Amino acid sequence: MGRVRPVSSLEVQQAYSSLAQRYIDLLGSLDTVHPDDLQLIERHLGHLSGPVLDLGCGPGHLSGFLHSSGCRVTGIDLVPEFIAHARRTYPDVPFEVGSLTDLARPEEPVSGVLTWYSLIHLRPGQLDGALIGIRRLLAPGGALVVGFFEGPVREPFEHRVTTAYRWPVDELADRLASAGFVEVERSQRPQEGERRPHAVLAARALRRHR
Ligand SMILES: C[S@@+](CC[C@H](N)C(=O)[O-])C[C@H]1O[C@@H](n2cnc3c(N)ncnc32)[C@H](O)[C@@H]1O
Repeated sequence: MGRVRPVSSLEVQQAYSSLAQRYIDLLGSLDTVHPDDLQLIERHLGHLSGPVLDLGCGPGHLSGFLHSSGCRVTGIDLVPEFIAHARRTYPDVPFEVGSLTDLARPEEPVSGVLTWYSLIHLRPGQLDGALIGIRRLLAPGGALVVGFFEGPVREPFEHRVTTAYRWPVDELADRLASAGFVEVERSQRPQEGERRPHAVLAARALRRHR
C-alpha cells in the first residue's frame, strides 16, 4: 500500500462537503447506529442536566437522539451542508458550524461531550491538543464518549471520505489519560461485513489536571 497522506481540517471539510448528501443518505440516520452504541451513548450522556456538545455531529442524528433523551445538546461540525441539514431535520436542537480543535470557552461548563467518529481524521500529533481542549471545556467529572475505528496498530488508511486513522484501544485510552481523563467504560466490536472494527471509550474529566 502506498503512503497515506495526512489531511488538514480544510481538506476534511471540503471532502465531506463534496459528499454531504451521499453521506446523509447512507449514514445520516439512527438506523445505521448499532443499538448497543445508542445505549452506551445514552447511559453516559442522556441523563446529564448541563450542556452537552456533539462535536463533529455530521448530519445531526445523534444530537437529535440526545435531545430526545432530554439533553441540552448542541451539535457542532466543520461542514456547512451537514449543519444546514441538521437544522432543518432537528429544528429544536441548536447547531453551529465550527471546529472541535478551535472551540471558544463556553459561558457554562459543559457536562458531556460526544465525539462519534469525529476525531478519526486528526493526525496523531493533533489528537492530544484536541483532547486537552475538550477536557478544558468540561466541568470536573464531565463525561466524554469517543467512537472510533479500532486496529492492532495505530495507522492511517484510505477512508471513503478522506484519510482516517485506526487506533489500538489501549493507545487511545492512554492518550485520554494523558489529557486528563479517567476511563470508565470501553466496548469493542469486530469487523461486521463492510463495517470496520469499532471501539468506544467512555471517560470522565479529572477534577484537577494541568
Ligand atoms: C465520520 S463523520 C461522523 C459524523 C457523525 N458524528 C456521525 O456519527 O455520523 C466525521 C465528522 O466529523 C466532522 N469533523 C472532522 N473533523 C472535525 C473538526 N476538526 N471539527 C468539527 N468537525 C469535524 C466531519 O465534518 C464529519 O461530519
